[in-house]
Amino acid sequence: MRDAALVIEDGRVVAVERAGAQGDERIDAGGRCVIPGFVDSHTHLVFAGDRADEFAARMAGAPYAAGGIRVTTDATRAASDEELLALARSRAAEARRAGITHLEIKSGYGLDVENERRLCEIAAQLTDDVTFLGAHVVPTEYEGRADDYVDLVCGDMLAACSPHARWIDVFCETGAFDADQSRRILEAGRAAGLGLRVHGNQLGPGPGAQLAVELGAASVDHCTYLTDDDVDALAASDTVATFLPATDFSTRQPYPDARRAIDAGVGVAIATNCNPGSSYTTSMAFCIALAVRDLKMTAQEALTAATLGGANALRRDDLGRLSPRARADAVILDAPSYTHFVYRPGVPLIAHALMSR
Ligand code: NIG
Repeated sequence: MRDAALVIEDGRVVAVERAGAQGDERIDAGGRCVIPGFVDSHTHLVFAGDRADEFAARMAGAPYAAGGIRVTTDATRAASDEELLALARSRAAEARRAGITHLEIKSGYGLDVENERRLCEIAAQLTDDVTFLGAHVVPTEYEGRADDYVDLVCGDMLAACSPHARWIDVFCETGAFDADQSRRILEAGRAAGLGLRVHGNQLGPGPGAQLAVELGAASVDHCTYLTDDDVDALAASDTVATFLPATDFSTRQPYPDARRAIDAGVGVAIATNCNPGSSYTTSMAFCIALAVRDLKMTAQEALTAATLGGANALRRDDLGRLSPRARADAVILDAPSYTHFVYRPGVPLIAHALMSR
């Protein structure tokens, strides 16, 4: 809408009207664009350590491998709760400055019962969308005994983490967990009352997307390699395909064809996947620029995927939109149009983020 006024009361949108609406307090956006705050539905914000050397090696030609997760696990296990909370808080603050007003946060760098539990507890101090990702990769001490580790994830680890989480996730990929192991983990999570999410189709074609559809997961994330059958299955489901374009950038993977998915009727989101290995960014603006430039979304589709799409991927109807009853999470841009995220790549365009809490 042009020349609009957003009317907010008690942290909720109550109306969107023509400019000139009355209020106790007024903020004049001065002709600048106002968008819903970004809903980042895929992050791994709770970790310690740095993998810049691994990134530099990749830029020099080394491939991305899931094994780097263990490097971050060692650093994370060695950090105190206070250190981890401070690191995660500072990344959440950075995300807020980038216009992200709601975050999902995964565990997944603990990989034992006590460490996964504390990562979930720390994440719960920052968001109500915590995801238990004990099934991120098989830890070193379970090398060659993946099924024993799956038993632990489905047993003691799930029992310790589920009180602090809303979701369970599994990395269903060669080098992580196969389809049968992933199904066991997701079914155990569902029996414990958690909603389902899947990391899938990141490093090659695989069973992740179809498993997510079969089990009614809210989202399958990455989707770098989707077959026509995967697209058809997703289109016939309410599982959101969440694209993580900064990951494809940072791992030198090919970019997925979001156009094909959207045209087939798949519900889509984009997210930052902020983590120290495959995508160390909180810039949703960067993700939008890539989604338009390389995933073939329009600017409007990419903005929608980063807001409403993220909310759909988290099954939240109070986020990602500026319509009556939604949370009043609004961002004023230093730009007249959201197209500037792509037109002016790399330029900080977030002038002000209003948060309802
Ligand atoms: O979403 N794919 C699995 N997990 C992360 C990578 C984490 C890492 O490399 O540390 C991801 O890309």
